Amino acid sequence: MKPLRTAVFPVAGLGTRSFPATKVIPKEMLTVVDKPIIQFAVEEARAAGIESLVFVTSRGKTLMEDHFDQHRELYEMLDRRGKVVELASARAAEIPVGQLTCVRQPEPLGLGHAVWCARNVVRDEPFAVLLPDELFLCEKPLLAQLVEIYNEYGGNVIAVSEVPKDQTARYGIVDPGEDDGRIATVRGLVEKPEPHEAPSNLSIVGRYILQPQVMDVLSRGSVGKGGEVQLTDAMARLIGLQPFHAARFEGHRFDCGGRAGFVAANVAYGLQRPDLASAIRAALAPVLAEDEQRRAETLP
Ligand code: UTP
Repeated sequence: MKPLRTAVFPVAGLGTRSFPATKVIPKEMLTVVDKPIIQFAVEEARAAGIESLVFVTSRGKTLMEDHFDQHRELYEMLDRRGKVVELASARAAEIPVGQLTCVRQPEPLGLGHAVWCARNVVRDEPFAVLLPDELFLCEKPLLAQLVEIYNEYGGNVIAVSEVPKDQTARYGIVDPGEDDGRIATVRGLVEKPEPHEAPSNLSIVGRYILQPQVMDVLSRGSVGKGGEVQLTDAMARLIGLQPFHAARFEGHRFDCGGRAGFVAANVAYGLQRPDLASAIRAALAPVLAEDEQRRAETLP
């Protein structure tokens, strides 16, 4: 079994759910507390031992490359001014030289197509995919949880979470086989099934460990739901040919590609910060109390 060394970050989407914020700024550069959301995903990958990072980018996304680059003039200025903490935090965002590759997706043709754009970097190695707009607040970083399972079973490992049965049409859904309550073998995958057609309520979330053969399937360019090249459809073709497991994870998921998830992530991550938590609680307490009162008054 080959070790996992490469991670692909599809960041070429349009981010229309976050307009107008993302009309010019890449969605992945929106900040949760004081860090762009892409940096959370990069740190998660590095915590899981990833050495080669691949951004699948598009026009207008170069800000992201700059964020992870060295910035000599800024460092020298901060150093001259004795801004030790600020210097350390700017430098902590660097990706070591030679570990970042950027490939372009000229048109947003779907997540499957974005992943396929990274094929010449991935080559014949297993790779992780991290969708950076999904943040996972976990004691052990989520990709590291998946790597543990990968080291035991090999093959493909995807993270899943339970969603309300009436919401299956928003997600890729797993048809589970043998299931011990945490890890299930994957018998099938269906992209956005209507509730009455859904084989379970286990939805695929934005962390995957995949075998390189998925690139061969994606090369066919088959178009699925929504007229896009779907990663879920390509992964489904590997079932039965390679081990395939779905893992429920311990922690909270925030979909920062949507407005409510993004705001909730800011509050949740802010409350994790010892330097900010009490100030955030104090600022929110009267707002929440007023909100509670307003809702009580409007209830029938
Ligand atoms: P999303 O559907 O959440 O992102 O795709 P989006 O298309 O940018 O967002 P909306 O719906 O218009 O608001 C999940 C991830 O896959 C990437 C996105 O950048 C995001 O990180 N993606 C999606 C691509 O890189 N290329 C695509 O063609 C589609």
